[in-house]
Amino acid sequence: MLEKLSHIGIAVKSIEEALPLYRDILGMKLTEIKEMPERSLRVAFLELDGTIMELLEGTGPESAISKFLEKRGGGVHHLCFKVSEIDGALQTLSEKGIRLIDKQARVGAEGNPVAFIHPASTGKVLMELEQD
Ligand code: CO
Repeated sequence: MLEKLSHIGIAVKSIEEALPLYRDILGMKLTEIKEMPERSLRVAFLELDGTIMELLEGTGPESAISKFLEKRGGGVHHLCFKVSEIDGALQTLSEKGIRLIDKQARVGAEGNPVAFIHPASTGKVLMELEQD
């Protein structure tokens, strides 16, 4: 079902505070910072030889990232994998009793259809599926 890793999502308190490490010291390339006010979210996209990392910063207390930071203090938030056909993947997972956060795909930060699998069904790993 999964084709390859799409990106790793990291929850940070502040993108500005996280960039000196990821960009300046570790040497990942900052490709874009995207404001998503409708989801109270700011995302910095970093790239290293085909591996993409998203630094996720909540911009309001209602954002999922702010809640995650409050509970866990930051760190790896989710792993995203490419699938060729997201509707079919969601249907298969659902039929196999896997709990889904998104029963229908929605538009993600990169503009592609995405859906999250509930961490209760994956040993506490939040997984995102993405179709190109
Ligand atoms: Co993601």
